Amino acid sequence: MIDAYQSQCQARVDDALAALFEAPLPQLQRLYQAMRYSVINGGKRVRPLLVYAACEALGGNASRANAAACAVELIHAYSLVHDDLPAMDDDDLRRGQPTTHIAFDEACAILAGDGLQTLAFEVLADARHNPLDAEVRLRMLSCLSRAAGPAGMVGGQAIDLGSVGCKLDQAALELMHRHKTGAMIEASVTLGALASGLADEPALQALQRYAQAIGLAFQVQDDILDVESDTATLGKTQGKDSANDKPTYPALLGLPAAKSYALELRDQAIAALSPWGESAEPLRALARFIVARNS
Ligand code: IPE
Ligand code: IPE
Ligand code: MG
Ligand code: MG
Ligand code: MG
Repeated sequence: MIDAYQSQCQARVDDALAALFEAPLPQLQRLYQAMRYSVINGGKRVRPLLVYAACEALGGNASRANAAACAVELIHAYSLVHDDLPAMDDDDLRRGQPTTHIAFDEACAILAGDGLQTLAFEVLADARHNPLDAEVRLRMLSCLSRAAGPAGMVGGQAIDLGSVGCKLDQAALELMHRHKTGAMIEASVTLGALASGLADEPALQALQRYAQAIGLAFQVQDDILDVESDTATLGKTQGKDSANDKPTYPALLGLPAAKSYALELRDQAIAALSPWGESAEPLRALARFIVARNS
């Protein structure tokens, strides 16, 4: 089921994303090319999928969620371009291709990341891209900026870089993961719910419990795959966490305990969806996918 749903949502968001990278001036061709290269390159699109699935769980039509789906993927792509830079994780492979700073150059990758980030907010704010009520758009902007910013993903990246070579305990590791990865996963679910136009407070709270659990599970699984997958399957260099001396769940708990923790979080996420029946099936399938994926 997830396969058909995934390809349908991928096609939907990829169409909307592809339309964003026409250079408005010949002088900007290389910048837009680098932005396109960083986005249209076979990502799993988990965050857009969560946006669509949350919107549909509440009975909203997926077309209402296109702008939010693009915005979360643009922020995610920017975060990966910057995460891969020599000053950060120094990776040369992403989604099976040379990273943006290798394919272009470092300055161009920094600017492409900056451009993708600001484009995300433009897409969400602008009624031509996001034809929802102004009040809903404002709420969405506030949600995304908080999740992407220093109190969210950027803060998590700062904790990550500040933790190289450190032995974090489980609470400190969880704090880092909740910020660097969890915040954007939670925002994706909340944005989808807001896009539906049908979200009340109890629904938002239940969805947030779901999103917190899968947000953490997502990074636990990412850490597991860095240990036990291979570079060809991952599309990024396997073993980089230990090479960079990053604190991870497998390093802290060992692989078997990290795996059972991911499954426990999946079950918590699915339990949080008990208010919904069939309409939340894509969200349940995504929770299962997040801990079963091999890339
Ligand atoms: C990788 O994210 C970075 C993390 C936040 C762990 P994804 O695993 O979603 O990467 P893509 O988008 O599919 O390449
Ligand atoms: C990155 O985490 C999370 C981001 C906010 C980009 P990782 O550094 O573990 O992501 P990968 O493994 O390079 O994809
Ligand atoms: Mg990193
Ligand atoms: Mg990295
Ligand atoms: Mg990783």
